[in-house]
Amino acid sequence: MVSKVLVTGGAGYIGSHAVVELLANGYECIVVDNLSNSSYESLARVQVLAKKRVPFYQVDLVDLEALVKVFEEHSDIESVLHFAGLKAVGESAQIPLQYYHNNVSGTVVLLQLMEKYEVKNLVFSSSATVYGDYTRYPGMVQVPETCPLQPTNPYGHTKFTIENILRDVSASGSWKFAILRYFNPIGAHPSGLIGEDPLGVPNNLLPYMAQVAVGRREKLSVFGDDYDTRDGTPIRDYIHVVDLAKGHVAALKYLQNQKKDLCAAWNLGSGKGSTVLEMYDAFTKACGIEIPRDIVGRRDGDVPLLVAKPTKAKLELDWKTELDVKEACEDLWRWVTKNPFGYSQHGVISRTVSKGDYENRLVTLGHGSRFQLVISNKGATIFDLLVDGQSIVLGPGDPGDYSGATVGRYANRIAGGKYELEGKSYQLTTNDNDNTNHSGVDCFSEKHFLGPLVKTPSKGVFIAEYLLLDEQPTDFRSDLMVSVTYTLDVQAKSLDIQYQGVLTKGQATPINLTNHTYFNLNKVNADTVQGTEIRLATNEAVGLDGSLHHVNVSTFDARKEENTVLNAAGPRYDHCFVVADSTSLDSTKGKLRPIFRASHPESRISLEVLTTEPSFQFYTGDGLTGFAPRSGFAVEPARYVNAINNDKWKETVTLSRGDVYRSRIVYRFT
Ligand SMILES: NC(=O)c1ccc[n+]([C@@H]2O[C@H](COP(=O)([O-])OP(=O)(O)OC[C@H]3O[C@@H](n4cnc5c(N)ncnc54)[C@H](O)[C@@H]3O)[C@@H](O)[C@H]2O)c1
Repeated sequence: MVSKVLVTGGAGYIGSHAVVELLANGYECIVVDNLSNSSYESLARVQVLAKKRVPFYQVDLVDLEALVKVFEEHSDIESVLHFAGLKAVGESAQIPLQYYHNNVSGTVVLLQLMEKYEVKNLVFSSSATVYGDYTRYPGMVQVPETCPLQPTNPYGHTKFTIENILRDVSASGSWKFAILRYFNPIGAHPSGLIGEDPLGVPNNLLPYMAQVAVGRREKLSVFGDDYDTRDGTPIRDYIHVVDLAKGHVAALKYLQNQKKDLCAAWNLGSGKGSTVLEMYDAFTKACGIEIPRDIVGRRDGDVPLLVAKPTKAKLELDWKTELDVKEACEDLWRWVTKNPFGYSQHGVISRTVSKGDYENRLVTLGHGSRFQLVISNKGATIFDLLVDGQSIVLGPGDPGDYSGATVGRYANRIAGGKYELEGKSYQLTTNDNDNTNHSGVDCFSEKHFLGPLVKTPSKGVFIAEYLLLDEQPTDFRSDLMVSVTYTLDVQAKSLDIQYQGVLTKGQATPINLTNHTYFNLNKVNADTVQGTEIRLATNEAVGLDGSLHHVNVSTFDARKEENTVLNAAGPRYDHCFVVADSTSLDSTKGKLRPIFRASHPESRISLEVLTTEPSFQFYTGDGLTGFAPRSGFAVEPARYVNAINNDKWKETVTLSRGDVYRSRIVYRFT
């Protein structure tokens, strides 16, 4: 059975790396975080990276009622990894009460609910800070877990207090507690997708140096070079955050394997110490940049030496560090160069549709420019598109309108909702007379996509990747993984959409993906498409029965013909136009062709649609319900209508194990 873990502080630096490791080890995770020192973006990325969903609750641990809801909704939580806490040593001296309230009271509330809901395993983030200055014991080079605890600052006192609470609670009942005393976590995930994103001025050496290297800060201050160490600067035990995250999985497995109650502490460190100047050298080597630095006076509360004796963790948890300082510096540099402003990206903003609902996030690409895209996790939907500062799409309407959404797993109609694959007959729920349109009850428009993972490879170019795990749908009998990638190019005024689908479980499935945006190029002036001039690449359309017929509409070729003008009541279109032979499951191997052009004389906005797909449905929105009829038109490039029931075209819409479905649509504006 899958073991469910509640991760407090899971959006933070160490917590987000731990979630990656837990998921990789087959655990299911739920994250609680008040985002006081983090951003949901870390978890959005973790989910795309791990290809797994992680439910998230923006909850403060001291808010008992809010936390109760989490335990109520997940009655099968088995264990807790408790990272949530404030951690800045200097700040803790200025606002000690807040530190005690947040760290200590938060832990007490958590333990009360764990007791109530009978969750007995806890892994707690303690710190080497609890040892204080252990050089008070002459001859002690590495600090063992048995060293008497004597923290020297309020932050350390909160950790020490929580450790004591755990020991007391454990003595009173049946619990399994692992106290992990971290040394100095550094580095980032090797993917460059997640890392440390300190708010304000970083307190730690490596993040500070990284910000100097990318030009966010002027120079590094080295606090004291007159300590009794090899180069006069303090020595710390630096540990790669991925090793640290793995240490948590090791501790959790250890707890789960213990028959008896326990409350024990382990150092998580490498056992090796590096001075500040050695770290300076390692990081400047990794980034190839000479970082300006100044030696300044000692900082209050700093001890000269803090290095772990790591043998207990090796012996009992079967864990030791595998990555070194060099790898940590390289991974940190990768994270920083890919994300110079951490999880903030220039020209990208995100917000939730309603407070705390992170599954319904709106992400704006090109924010601040006159060409902007707003996309939503629900249906990987085009929520809004601004061309020359004007909105030209309808945005979400009624569920049945599919407005702006990704439609799949099978776009367009399946005659009678019936098909046969690999000798088996299937019947889908019908929703369009006797047919099934856009997959009916299983349509992607109502499903929540993971991500998006946003990249900004060059100025004015934004790439956003959504991922859908379409698991256990109502009608279809197999699981799919689908990615939808939006590329917005502000200079070129183009929006490129790429789809990819693979079968992850079960029998072969029909597949056909498209976008269902309703365009109104003159939306700022009128709420209908009236006056829109159009031309199509072809006037040949295919019917549900596979027969071809001609439709009265202007085409690209007919030079003498006037453009077709859409008026208040007509002409009406809802046809599948054919632009190429329907041959491949991966249409992106073929040509990208222009298939549709539209412009409006009043707004002077023109749209050209290009695709690698062999056909497109053109619909003038005459049956719209969420909006006035004909308030937008849709152009939906995809495979031939009902191809799944036509032996000639069936292959282009049949996805079997090992196959990859791909398609591409481009909207260009002038
Ligand atoms: N980073 C280090 O150098 C280090 C060293 C030793 C121990 N630790 C401990 O490890 C844990 C994680 O550290 P990190 O570096 O990932 O810090 P972090 O600030 O990145 O992560 C802590 C997370 O907890 C959240 N949080 C804080 N108070 C909360 C509350 N009351 N309710 C809900 N969420 C709350 C924050 O928003 C943040 O996402 C902390 O407990 C810290 O004290 C960190």
